[in-house]
Amino acid sequence: MSTITCIEDLRRLAKRRVPKMFYDYADSGAWTESTYRANQTAFEEIKFRQRVMVDMDDRRLTSEMLGQQVSMPVALAPTGLTGMQHADGEILAARAAEKAGVPFTLSTMSICSIEDVAEAVSKPFWFQLYVMRDRDFVIDLIDRAKAAGCSALMLTADLQILGQRHKDLKNGLTVPPNLTPATLLDLATKWRWCFAMARTKRRTFGNIAGHVKDATDLSSLSKWTASQFDPSLSWDDVKWIKARWNGPLIIKGVMEPEDAERAVDAGADAVIVSNHGGRQLDGACASIEALPDVLQAVGSRTEVYVDGGVRSGQDVLRAVALGARGVFIGRPFLYGLGALGEEGVSRCLEIIRNELDISLALCGLRDIADADLRILKPGSYPLPAEKLDDKVSV
Ligand SMILES: Cc1cc2nc3c(=O)[nH]c(=O)nc-3n(C[C@H](O)[C@H](O)[C@H](O)COP(=O)(O)O)c2cc1C
Repeated sequence: MSTITCIEDLRRLAKRRVPKMFYDYADSGAWTESTYRANQTAFEEIKFRQRVMVDMDDRRLTSEMLGQQVSMPVALAPTGLTGMQHADGEILAARAAEKAGVPFTLSTMSICSIEDVAEAVSKPFWFQLYVMRDRDFVIDLIDRAKAAGCSALMLTADLQILGQRHKDLKNGLTVPPNLTPATLLDLATKWRWCFAMARTKRRTFGNIAGHVKDATDLSSLSKWTASQFDPSLSWDDVKWIKARWNGPLIIKGVMEPEDAERAVDAGADAVIVSNHGGRQLDGACASIEALPDVLQAVGSRTEVYVDGGVRSGQDVLRAVALGARGVFIGRPFLYGLGALGEEGVSRCLEIIRNELDISLALCGLRDIADADLRILKPGSYPLPAEKLDDKVSV
């Protein structure tokens, strides 16, 4: 473990330990992957102002997200098929998040069910909702999340239609994997993954299996799932979802200020500036570049979070300095999980916390609440389009 010093180390180890089909599922973006790459490179361009000779003792990273105390402004993003990166992945990640004092969000497309995760943790987690054509199923999911004590519902708005990921098609991604000669050969080198998977009963979509009348076996379940994302989802749906849920609602996948305004008007208590980790609209800008405009539009009315490309505590600090109330991480915790199970997710969070803490100090601050644009080098960070126009016309 001492040789694991950064998220990239966890990624490399996960690549060795997770079957190729599932590793590629995590480490890929849509089409040319340009947005997937841009999410990370845009962070790297934002530079800090190094300060010296200020008292850096006794630092504080604690914050609040949706009224919940968090040990740092970081949460685990919802990721589908997490239980295929490592057996019982969602349970392990939720436990690690709870121990670290940060929120965990369970995906609709998880392997472990809402009820499985609720049984494994002692504090409420958040639930992410995909709206399916089968509205009875959606209503049932909302009710199940409520019954399991979830403290926030996250509605994903940017996946009415699936962006294409070449690797998934080439690998013939299925859940569980089809045992072709190529997958068998690959699995033979991933013995840790196989042993753990052999010991669990959770190997399919836990929130769906057993809850849909027409999907009784694995093949009909996959067909049902593939045909169910609802392309007609609209802002009107947010109203009935909010009414049914009757609790804090986060809308995820907002990149434009107009959409952010619609989201807040429709009842969102928070929005996540996100391009789904570059997995949907290839060619969309990096999510951190979209943050300033969204903040300008709705920052005074709602909490604004960001995800996509966060790979270090420095990235968390950059996002918070720009005005994000918190950030979500997807792949970093999946790499930790694939590499070392629960311990790997804990390690991922420790790495990010340590980097955030030290970077905060080196910027001359002791409290994350004081991080703002003043710690960033002017000219290196994205500005709202309006300000940019002013700059251009000067
Ligand atoms: C493997 C994988 C599966 C994902 N599944 C979902 C999902 O089920 N629901 C959702 O809203 N977002 C999903 N996302 C998007 C993440 O919630 C998040 O927006 C993204 O991972 C952030 O980018 P990052 O991975 O660079 O941190 C998924 C992302 C990955 C990498």
